[in-house]
Parts: sequence; structure tokens; C-alpha cells
Amino acid sequence: MKNVLITGGAGFIGSHVVRLFVNKYPEYNIVNLDALTYAGNLDNLTDIEKKSNYTFVKGNICDANFLQELFAKYDFTYVIHLAAESHVDRSISNPIEFVMTNVVGTVNLLNAAKHQWLKVGSQQSADSSQQTANRFYHVSTDEVYGALGETGFFTEETKYDPHSPYSASKASSDHFVRAYHDTYGLPIVISNCSNNYGSHHFPEKLIPLAINNICNNKPVPVYGKGENVRDWLWVNDHARAIDVILHNGKNGDTYNIGGHNEWKNIDLIKLLCKIMDKKLNRSNGESEKLISFVKDRAGHDLRYAIDSTKLKNELGWMPSLQFEEGLEKTVDWYLNNQQWLDNVTSGNYAKYYDEQYVKR
Ligand code: NAD
Ligand code: DAU
Repeated sequence: MKNVLITGGAGFIGSHVVRLFVNKYPEYNIVNLDALTYAGNLDNLTDIEKKSNYTFVKGNICDANFLQELFAKYDFTYVIHLAAESHVDRSISNPIEFVMTNVVGTVNLLNAAKHQWLKVGSQQSADSSQQTANRFYHVSTDEVYGALGETGFFTEETKYDPHSPYSASKASSDHFVRAYHDTYGLPIVISNCSNNYGSHHFPEKLIPLAINNICNNKPVPVYGKGENVRDWLWVNDHARAIDVILHNGKNGDTYNIGGHNEWKNIDLIKLLCKIMDKKLNRSNGESEKLISFVKDRAGHDLRYAIDSTKLKNELGWMPSLQFEEGLEKTVDWYLNNQQWLDNVTSGNYAKYYDEQYVKR
């Protein structure tokens, strides 16, 4: 049985990756390491939590000693690293937490993997064609590339140009992962993905926030004029891409993952309002009245768009779902899981929500 460590498995994307791996690979023992911050929620995993090839460990990647003990105990074959502070707005109000988890936490994990796999001092060749039994997979973001104008796409060769504290911390962690490959020969792979959407998405992010607010007849905050463009990918397609890259990607390589699915925020919100009118039996146009233009995000990147040709040509991955269908499925999930929403919008989170989204 191979032990596979997935960090951040109680979060949005991590829970989909854990579910996919637990169900698809009975021969893997999946260890989900998560600190259960405000974004971590074990309710995301109730359908697989009793499976015999799944173990949850509560712990913080900022604790280096704990990580070394965990690696010694399980001798992981693969690490899929998703644990992170992930929300851009929070990084603007509290950058240091992003440095601690995203940079220091990632370096702690790299050290633990290096210690376990390379047995201190026995430096391997950094030849990128060398395949080894182990693999450290770092899940990263397209935001490290900065912002695009009206045209063009991010490729794997695009220079890093992060603008927010969040993207700067992710860029830094990407550099550390590559440095451990180049310096110590640690077997690694990195992917940079565009915006995900789907079930179990924490309602501080645009789509679940808007769904929740429309349901509750609250204003839907659109930053600036809503002109910013994001490239949306169904979260299950991201999880599929991670599976393919972990097993078949080239040691030391980077893969871009994206949906070829660009939407201006305002157009996306209008589409969502139409779907919500239909689902909630409201008259056409009723939900759109909730749209409320608010002060823009500081340093707001204008446009992201991913070129995922490399992933398609080398590993045969493609998105499986049209956006309109995926968005409707997502809305259905939230409407059918009101209890999940109520649980995460109560308590501390509600306090943050009220402070953040007062109309400006
Ligand atoms: P999320 O915020 O929903 O989940 C993050 C998880 O990490 C939570 O379960 C949280 O408890 C855990 N965590 C946070 N700090 C931790 C720590 N110090 N130790 C252990 N666990 C900790 O995030 P997400 O949206 O699922 O993103 C997951 C990863 O994918 C992140 O690395 C993010 O940068 C990357 N990513 C996200 C998107 C997106 O659209 N959401 C797109 C591309 C890449
Ligand atoms: O591109 C990948 C990134 O996508 C991930 O790395 C991040 O972890 C993830 O949070 C996401 O970042 P964004 O900042 O693009 O996502 P968010 O949902 O916060 O915002 C999407 C767009 O909507 C963005 O242009 C800001 C805008 N927005 C967001 C919120 C929360 C609004 O207009 N109103 C809002 O209330």
C-alpha cells in the first residue's frame, strides 16, 4: 500500500482531490493533513470519511517537527500539497499569515520530504528526465503570472509577476519547490491553475458568495465595474488534472491548467442571476436587482487566461464540462445543501462577512 499525503484536504479543492483519490485508488492509503482553519471543513468529506484507505490528521504545516514525525511514520510515496491561505482579500488585510502558511509551511514540507526521501546528504542528480519513486506535487495558481491585458494567455514560459500578497506568497513557494528540485534533486511537479468553481466552495469567493446572497436577498457585491476577467474551471476537472499530472507529468516540470472559459465578472453574475431566478421561481430579472457595485479590490488584476496546450498535448487532459452546465450543477448543490451553507456562514465567518461587504 502506498501512503499518499494530501495537505489541505478539508478545503474546497483538496476535498475533491481526496474524494477522487480515495475512491479511485483503493491501493493508496490517503492521509489528509489539515489544520482546519476557517476554510477547512470536515463536513466536505462525510461521504468518504469511513473508508478504510482514508486517514485524517489534524496538524499545521508551520510545525516542522510535527511534519518530520509524520513523514517518518508514514514514509509517503507522494505528497500533493494544497494547504494554503487562498483568499486574495484576506491577504490584503493580513499578509503575514500568507507568508507563514504558503511560504514557510511549504518549505517545512519540502524539508520533511527531502529528509525522508533523500536521506540527508545523499544528493540525487537534478536531471529533470530522472523519474523516481517519490513525487512532491505543488498545487499553485495562475495568479503568479500577474495580469493580462485584453489579449494573450499565460503559458508555462510566462514570467512571474505577482501583484497581491497572496500571489506573491504562492510565487515564492513555487520558487522554493523548484529550488529544492534544482539544488537537492527532490522529485517535484507544479501546476498553475485558473479559478475553480463547484460544490463545497467557501462563500467568501465570488460564485458561492453570490449564490448565498441571492438566496438570502442580500446585495451581491461586484468590485469596481465588474470588468475583470477570470477563466473558470470546474473543480472536478482540476482534481482530474492533478491525478494525471501526479502520475504522468515529467519530473521537475510545470503544467498550466485552465478551462478556456473566460468571463467578465459582471457577465458571470448576470448569468448566475438568471439561473437563480429560474431555480427560485422568481420573475426574470429579480435577482439582478441585487447587484451592487462596490469599491474595487486594491491591485485588482484585470484578466487571467490560461493556455493549457501542454497539458492537453503531453498528457491528454481536457475540461469535461461546459460552464453553463457546471454553474447550474453548482447552484443545485448549494440549494440542496443549505445546512452546509448555514454551518459555514455562522460564527466567526459571519463576523468577517459583515465587516468586509458593507456597501461602500
Ligand atoms: P481553501 O482555502 O478552500 O482550503 C485551504 C485548506 O488548507 C483548508 O482546508 C485549510 O484548513 C488548510 N490549511 C490552511 N492553512 C493550513 C496550515 N497552516 N496547515 C495545514 N492546513 C492548512 O483553498 P482552495 O481554494 O481549496 O485552494 C487549495 C489550493 O489550490 C491552494 O494552494 C490554492 O493556492 C490553490 N489554487 C486554488 C484555486 C481556486 O480557484 N480556489 C485555483 C488555483 C490554485
Ligand atoms: O486564479 C486562481 C485564483 O482564483 C486562486 O489562486 C485563488 O485562491 C482563488 O481565490 C481565486 O482568486 P480570485 O481573486 O480570482 O477569486 P475571487 O472569487 O475572490 O474573485 C473572483 C473575481 O471576482 C475577482 O475579479 C474579484 C471579484 N469579486 C470577488 C468577490 C469576493 C467581486 O467582484 N466581488 C466579490 O465579492
